[in-house]
Amino acid sequence: MSYPYQITSEEGYHAAWKKSIEDPEGFWGEIAEHFEWKRKWDKVLDWNFREPSVKWFDGAQLNITENCIDRHLKTKAHEPAIIWEPNDPNDHHRMFTYQQLHFKVCQFANVLKNNGVQKGDRVCIYMGMIPELAIAVLACARVGAIHSVIFGGFSAQSIADRLKDAQAEFIITCDGAFRGAKDIPLKNVIDDALISCEFVKRVIVYTHTRTAVSMIKGRDVWWEDEIRKVETAGNPDFPAEVMNAEDPLFILYTSGSTGKPKGVVHTCGGYMVYTNYTFVNVFQSQPEDIHFCTADIGWITGHSYIVYGPLSAGTTSLMFEGIPTFPDAGRFWDIIDKYKVNILYTAPTAIRSLMAFGLGPVHGKDLSSLRVLGTVGEPINEEAWHWYDEHIGKKKCPIVDTWWQTETGGILISNMAGITPSKPSYATLPMPGVEPLLVDDKGVEIKENNVTGNLCIRSPWPATIRTTYGDHERCRTNYFATYDNLYFTGDGAYRDENGYYRITGRVDDVLNVSGHRIGTAEVENAINMHAGVVESAVVGFPHDVKGQGIYAYVIYSGSHGDEEMTRRDITATVSRIIGPIAKPDKIQLVTGLPKTRSGKIMRRILRKIAEGEVENLGDTSTLLDPSVVDQIKNSRL
Ligand code: WTA
Repeated sequence: MSYPYQITSEEGYHAAWKKSIEDPEGFWGEIAEHFEWKRKWDKVLDWNFREPSVKWFDGAQLNITENCIDRHLKTKAHEPAIIWEPNDPNDHHRMFTYQQLHFKVCQFANVLKNNGVQKGDRVCIYMGMIPELAIAVLACARVGAIHSVIFGGFSAQSIADRLKDAQAEFIITCDGAFRGAKDIPLKNVIDDALISCEFVKRVIVYTHTRTAVSMIKGRDVWWEDEIRKVETAGNPDFPAEVMNAEDPLFILYTSGSTGKPKGVVHTCGGYMVYTNYTFVNVFQSQPEDIHFCTADIGWITGHSYIVYGPLSAGTTSLMFEGIPTFPDAGRFWDIIDKYKVNILYTAPTAIRSLMAFGLGPVHGKDLSSLRVLGTVGEPINEEAWHWYDEHIGKKKCPIVDTWWQTETGGILISNMAGITPSKPSYATLPMPGVEPLLVDDKGVEIKENNVTGNLCIRSPWPATIRTTYGDHERCRTNYFATYDNLYFTGDGAYRDENGYYRITGRVDDVLNVSGHRIGTAEVENAINMHAGVVESAVVGFPHDVKGQGIYAYVIYSGSHGDEEMTRRDITATVSRIIGPIAKPDKIQLVTGLPKTRSGKIMRRILRKIAEGEVENLGDTSTLLDPSVVDQIKNSRL
């Protein structure tokens, strides 16, 4: 199998892009012919950004798992679909051929059905990075249930919020997860979350870490027992549910500038076509490739480029349970050497943290199988880019810097490996079907080059966000109302003389910590829940490894007296309310916050102080009490 729609030259890219913009329906209609549909579409695209309403391949019917699994059975039943590397390198790795994956997914789809899961039901998945996570995701898609995967680092409270928002009655989890030297008791966290979620009917628990768990009668069942029941019943196949192209495939919660995470909804048809197309073209994948994406399936990168993209393309997806520094900082390189990985797709944070260990951990590792390197999630600094290029790619592997978002479902701006030029720290050019533009703060398009502006997209691509679950108005106001008739990304970008885009970072109150999105309002809400906290303001500051760190200014009226202990307690509260990923790196206790007369916090000033720029704070004359600024400056951490 090869990919007839794989672009093979720079001219080919420009031609494809031009065609896709002039005739999106013709362009995507042709690409969609290469998938298996149970019924073809009535219309390729129907849209307006005002409501917004975006429909791709409307009228078509399909099941994404038939495209990710069944259709490969004719030609590659015995080739590996998923290879799994455990946290502990001394444990056994596992491998699933396409045929075995088909078997496992059908089996678990039967388990879901036996437990009452039906098409359209929301199923929350809270597991570590084990193959059963991918199997659970695919089994949901097979029965037409809407999966909502929650990253294993979120707290019980965060899970409860998401369960309520999605009204999810089913949960799939495991006893625990290994991450480096840690053993995270996932089922315990679920139990805490469920205290306030009595509507949950069933929790299916997979045994992985063998940590003790409590099982509630009538609600909790073991994965293994349920599989046995299916086996006893004769282990039947599971015919894939017929889905409309615009039926929801999944919900994935992500942070925005408000306190409450949004449930981003993607649908079956467009998401499938787009993740496959971008996977094949950006990475220049080959059917026999071993593709190693180091993300967690709890984030969009894992959804699109561990599960759906690579499997729909029939390649081998390598799933890794652990972390880059366990048992030592050579782990990624060991894995590449062991499995002869062809494509490595990781985050700048990981690269920066590994750089700090020097070249020792790279020595003696055979990385010659690598053909393409990728980065995602945050801007990559030039130093990290060059280190990646020289020491990992040995200057032979093109690096693709892929810019995209949970809401975009797949990569929107990136070079294509070896096809279009790369430029360090630039995502460069849009994918076919994507028309980016820059606007100023008034929403007026900036047409020249060598300019900075707010990054928008003019028209839909197949994996455009369709809605935010349960609240379409929120989707409209968040993404489609800032600038008339445009999708607003929340990012700023610079466009150079060649029209290449360089993402400069968020222009809203969203932080990007180690490639993870965290809203400042969410962190503030969590801090404010701590007893004794009067008010807080959270900003980002440059962090050598994480990209951005979290800096919190807190007015505290509690009695403690021991500042260090107060900081630790506040941190513990944030960890409990959101999860360890949102813990502030610095907490400065202050007596006041810089506010305007209308009561608005001037974050610009707080950001500068957090960045260490205490001299030129700009105009502070509009502040209610300018002396607050000096106090904050003087007690800066
Ligand atoms: C940032 C991750 C610079 C950006 C796929 C975006 C990037 C947010 C890049 C989305 C990149 C992602 N260069 N910045 N290559 N890729 N971002 O939803 O600020 O977790 O808006 O999706 O990450 O984060 P999300």
